[in-house]
Amino acid sequence: MSANPRPDAGSRPVTVPDFLAAKAQGRKLAVVTAYDYALARIVDSAGVDSVLVGDSLGMVVQGREHCLEVTLRDVIYHTRCVARGVRRSLIVSDMPFMTYQVSPQQALASAGQLVQEGGAHAVKLEGGARSADAIAAIVAAEIPVMGHVGLTPQSVRRIGGFRVQRDEAQIVADAKAVEQAGAFAVVVECVPASVAARITNELKIPTIGIGAGSICDGQVLVGYDLLGMFDDVRPKFVKRYAELGDAVRKAVEGFCKEVRGGQFPGDEHEFH
Ligand code: KIV
Repeated sequence: MSANPRPDAGSRPVTVPDFLAAKAQGRKLAVVTAYDYALARIVDSAGVDSVLVGDSLGMVVQGREHCLEVTLRDVIYHTRCVARGVRRSLIVSDMPFMTYQVSPQQALASAGQLVQEGGAHAVKLEGGARSADAIAAIVAAEIPVMGHVGLTPQSVRRIGGFRVQRDEAQIVADAKAVEQAGAFAVVVECVPASVAARITNELKIPTIGIGAGSICDGQVLVGYDLLGMFDDVRPKFVKRYAELGDAVRKAVEGFCKEVRGGQFPGDEHEFH
């Protein structure tokens, strides 16, 4: 038996058609972000439908205030790490700021790199109507696209912060533009629950909510948030399912104490 059994080994990989079928069948989708092999492997084996290599890595991995400095190379690197740990869930990679806004050709080239060099199964990009041409160009090359409307964190400079978006007409029009352009799903971030419910009812593709209420077809959270490992910001929409930050701190304090007190390593850790 392998030293590292994979509890998920043998189960069928999640596909883009599975996302659409889930909506048709009323089965909710669970998406979690991960950026490295070890966490991706745990998240995947826990049964998520998709692992998102989000550009939130700029904040939670790189310690930046926003995601604007995350590069395509960064996301390719983290997607490769994640892809080694994932056995069954759909790997979606974020397209960083300025890797798709210049032209549909630029968007297609960037998406192609995420698939060919990173191992992504699909890509995610922000914006509704303004990104429709980019989405259509990527989809025309057979690369599945997840849209992202409502609060789009790459717009932080224009918006002036990470704020709930309330322009219902604009958000609904953006979600419809994303669907029309050929996306297979759309993230709806930080909008009133009633707006997300309307989009969910009016779209055929699944809505994946974050700070968008319970009616969405699925939910996404940043892995480090739901595990209680990231404290720089604590958005209202995050539920912490564990306090691993505290557990890690206690474990490392224990290590320091035992090293300094001479209790570690013990005889059982020595080679004789
Ligand atoms: O970058 C990210 O992690 C995201 C999700 C929070 C939707 O875009």
